[in-house]
Amino acid sequence: MADENPPPPPKPAAPVPPEPTADPDTKSAADPAPTPVPTPPMSAAGDATAAAPKPAAPAAAAAPAAAKPPAPPPAAATAKPADEGVSRRSFMSWALPVGWVAFSAACTSSLVATARFMFPNVLFEPPQSFKAGFPGEYNVGEVDVRWKDAFSVWIVREADGFYAIIAVCTHLGCSPNWLPAENKFKCPCHGSGFYRTGVNFEGPAPRPLERARIVLSDDGQILVDKSVKFQEEKGEWTKPEAFLKG
Ligand code: FES
Repeated sequence: MADENPPPPPKPAAPVPPEPTADPDTKSAADPAPTPVPTPPMSAAGDATAAAPKPAAPAAAAAPAAAKPPAPPPAAATAKPADEGVSRRSFMSWALPVGWVAFSAACTSSLVATARFMFPNVLFEPPQSFKAGFPGEYNVGEVDVRWKDAFSVWIVREADGFYAIIAVCTHLGCSPNWLPAENKFKCPCHGSGFYRTGVNFEGPAPRPLERARIVLSDDGQILVDKSVKFQEEKGEWTKPEAFLKG
């Protein structure tokens, strides 16, 4: 009895659902032969295995496309060195002349300094000796000031002769003035006073004025020589050339 109910025949395997091909128009997945190469739209709908590799291709294709945009930078990069080159050229165009001008100025100043060195500093002083005219041109008892400005010398004529006083104060070297009304020499700097003989009597001057050599020249004129001086404190006024008899 039990054999009368044979086991139900196995269900056909047909109900196997078609592989995830969503397209109803396509034939079943069990028949691979006629299945054409899945097109991208189909795989995107249902076939996961086919869809996976596909996106890779577009990515690879997109990579070169994305790499293209960086192309412009090289253009800018090539432009910068050009600008730098121009600025460098412009810099050299004015820096070189300026450098030459500075170099020339330095050389010129050096030459001028060297030329100046060839001419040492010289103090031009009046000659130390001079002829002061004939003795008859002087009045007895007078201090002659005609040579003071030119030679810084007064010539004094006394009854028995002449002497020449150097017009330099023995204090600090100022030039005193002859004051006929007061019959004395007066220094304007610190007030030293000297008699007509040259002896100091007031102010800070420590000693009398100095006298210069005075003689008669060959032509009969009075010759004064300041290079030879006589100091009273040394007893030199009594020397022959410190006083010209006449
Ligand atoms: S320099 Fe003549 S008083 Fe001083």
